[in-house]
Amino acid sequence: MAQLPLVKLPHFVTVEDLSSDQVLSLIQRAEYYKQGGQVPTLTKPVYVTNAFFENSTRTHTSFEVAEKRLGLTDIFFDPQHSSVKKGETMYDTMLVMDALGVDLAVIRHSKNAYYEQLIHPAAGSHLHMGIVNAGDGSGQHPSQSMLDMMTIHEHFGHFDGLKVGIIGDITNSRVAGSNMEILNRLGASVFFSGPDYWYDHAFDKYGKFMPLDDLVGEMDVLMLLRVQHERHAGDANEAKFSAASYHKKYGINQERYNRMKKNAIIMHPGPINHDVELAGSLVEAPKCMFYKQMQNGVFMRMAMLEAVLRGRKLGGLD
Ligand code: CP
Repeated sequence: MAQLPLVKLPHFVTVEDLSSDQVLSLIQRAEYYKQGGQVPTLTKPVYVTNAFFENSTRTHTSFEVAEKRLGLTDIFFDPQHSSVKKGETMYDTMLVMDALGVDLAVIRHSKNAYYEQLIHPAAGSHLHMGIVNAGDGSGQHPSQSMLDMMTIHEHFGHFDGLKVGIIGDITNSRVAGSNMEILNRLGASVFFSGPDYWYDHAFDKYGKFMPLDDLVGEMDVLMLLRVQHERHAGDANEAKFSAASYHKKYGINQERYNRMKKNAIIMHPGPINHDVELAGSLVEAPKCMFYKQMQNGVFMRMAMLEAVLRGRKLGGLD
């Protein structure tokens, strides 16, 4: 792949606005960091806070590692022990951070598209800081999408003609929506499987919905999705949910694993519900890329943060 220009963005809140070349450039940059490439020298301090209003292990820690590797200065903030608990809104909280001189906020929040009110003056925002979306409700999870693309590219060297099966709780996933769109754009074919009540036919334009047993042996990538119980309030299917029955119908067990193509891989954003989406005995099986995905997440998040540093000319970068 030819060397692509570095990406520069004012905020990183969605992948849907990225061109295919920008996606590929971020993958190139993340691969460069993974191979030990030098980080740019910051000539001025850059202050970043990680504001996780929803729980996280991978994304939060991975952003923290990426920030440290880039030489950014972390400003600790934990919504659970902050004035958010006294009723302060997210916007007012970010006004505080802005006033204190924080340059960037990496935010996870349960509200879909929460970032709109933070980045658009037309929506009433007076913030100056850059926003990096670490997951919004069932909307988007750009850093997960980008690290998934990196992991596929690293394994196959290309996207053209790959068959990717997205399986599970698709409507509630903030990873699936972005991934199906980008994968199509980069030349991969997308297929879907899982419970039909957690599938939306609006996704038909991106790929075909198929029974799991017809799909397993045909795919290059199985992208398993976590059953998102926390997003099922008011969903009648949640009351009827049985882990054993889900696993039997829609989970990857040893028999289905054995039927996969020789070079095929399994991905999952985590955390994994053992013996639901995947047999617990397979979590560390050779085709499972989960820990590779997490490792790649650090390098991809470095590339994403750098894109915003350059887009905002922070730390003396441009
Ligand atoms: N993949 C993911 O978002 O995991 P965490 O919720 O642990 O960050």
